[in-house]
Amino acid sequence: MAEKRKLRSQSWFGSDDLHGFIHRSWMKNQGYPHDLFDGRPVIGICNTWSELTPCNGHFRELAEWVKRGVYEAGGFPLEFPVMSLGETNLRPTSMLFRNLASMDVEESIRANPIDGVVLLMGCDKTTPSLLMGAASCDIPTIGLSGGPMLSGRYHDKTVGSGTGLWKMSEDLRAGKITKAEFLAAEGGMSRSKGHCMTMGTASTMASMVEALGIGLPGNAAIPAVDSRRYTQAQLTGRRIVEMVKADLTMSKVLTRKAFENAIRVNAAIGGSTNAVIHLLALAARIGVELTLKDWDDLGSKVSCLVNLQPSGQYLMEDFYYAGGLPAVMKELAGEGLLHLDALTVNGQAIGENIKDAPNWNRAVIHAYDAPFKPEAGIAVLSGNLAPNGSVIKPSAGSPHLFKHRGRAVVFEDIEDFHARIDDEALDVDENCVMVLKNCGPKGYPGMAEVGNMPLPPKVLRKGITDMVRVSDARMSGTAYGTVVLHASPEAAAGGPLALVKNGDMISLDVAARKLMLEVDDATLAERRKAWTPPPAPKRGYAKLYVDHVLGAETGADLDFLVGGSGAEVPRESH
Ligand code: FES
Repeated sequence: MAEKRKLRSQSWFGSDDLHGFIHRSWMKNQGYPHDLFDGRPVIGICNTWSELTPCNGHFRELAEWVKRGVYEAGGFPLEFPVMSLGETNLRPTSMLFRNLASMDVEESIRANPIDGVVLLMGCDKTTPSLLMGAASCDIPTIGLSGGPMLSGRYHDKTVGSGTGLWKMSEDLRAGKITKAEFLAAEGGMSRSKGHCMTMGTASTMASMVEALGIGLPGNAAIPAVDSRRYTQAQLTGRRIVEMVKADLTMSKVLTRKAFENAIRVNAAIGGSTNAVIHLLALAARIGVELTLKDWDDLGSKVSCLVNLQPSGQYLMEDFYYAGGLPAVMKELAGEGLLHLDALTVNGQAIGENIKDAPNWNRAVIHAYDAPFKPEAGIAVLSGNLAPNGSVIKPSAGSPHLFKHRGRAVVFEDIEDFHARIDDEALDVDENCVMVLKNCGPKGYPGMAEVGNMPLPPKVLRKGITDMVRVSDARMSGTAYGTVVLHASPEAAAGGPLALVKNGDMISLDVAARKLMLEVDDATLAERRKAWTPPPAPKRGYAKLYVDHVLGAETGADLDFLVGGSGAEVPRESH
């Protein structure tokens, strides 16, 4: 059949010569019967399971349900591992390895006899790394998220992943709770399989998968341990086989319209600032033009509808019961804020997918005309302190600080910060602007989530919970505060952030989109002469990364990975 001859897997399995013998024979050592090589779609299940990535610890089980679906639809599933990035364990930061993992994914897909792929994703960086790698190959692809943990509970309290922890940590440092009370929450916060159950980066990226149309409806919110997550996996397995038959490749779904939808959805859910970096990088892989400015132009005026931590009160389990992402998208659609004709992996336009979406709880998912927080999408700031841009998430900040002028208290790097922040002699008060340098892509290296610097104890003891903070770092999606992030160019690349000194005045004006260092150009030029870059790694992947990483304003990909190479295999190996 002509259709079977088109499948790329048949260039491995489809011949009756030496090559076909080799490719089939060794696979048969796993017990696969001969008819599985007859030209049916071969589906790769790209698995980020690892016991060192606890958020993805249930993925071997999840993969079995995908396989069921693939077999039911007449496909041949083959599971394969790729580098797994566990947010809480990896040092110096998981973000250092996002691009490395994406290379693993890209090369694993291209080099193997795979016609379509299901990406199993959960913890923060596993989603962008898999999407980016697959995008550079551009075969039929469905993203399947592993789902969030159940709501964290301990004693009679709810505790959200990350968000609750940061809060308790500040309470401990301010002397409001005891160490024993603090540690009591440890087991209760993470009490089921799944990823962080706040609207942190993992939940945000799972929502982006659904909003982009590259996952099936319902992908974002079904809890990891809910049986419906396994149903979702089975349906995903069935659907990917059909996508191969229809040649529905990734680039047919990930269009400019899909990204515009995702940006607006990110605003409506109070999503993580990390989505900015990941979607910019993904768009560049698939060949869609997307800029940092698009985030402000398209998303900043969109209201936040979802009352989830860290911007609000509830957790992902509540979000699912309230209707999940389809309910949010239906609200946006009602305001004309979505491209309803954007194609999704189920073969339908997104408007078709969401048109009957119910909303079961308006306290969790607000109506657009009664938003949780008005005009709360990510704002992109520029000015002489970040000429290439910086971002702030207003929904997680304090409005009284959105127009602020303060004296800089400068930390040269994260070690300097840790060494001095608890020092009672540190000359700082709540009106100051805390500045952290050398935590961008090159500086850390890897661009760590340290931008939401904890406040000094003497400020916390006054009952102050927020200060303006500026850095070239990222921030955990579970974090909050009036925090300016991703200042670009970064300090380690010689950006103006490198030139800030203690006592300089900094002004922030979110409404005017300005971040200014009130130091004249002549003085800055003098300081620049005296500036030297921090030492860079001398070998290994860290050196490759620092030598080639692009700025945060374009997604912090490696320069030689931007774009794609398709799925073409250059030559046979034997
Ligand atoms: Fe894995 Fe938060 S640590 S999602």
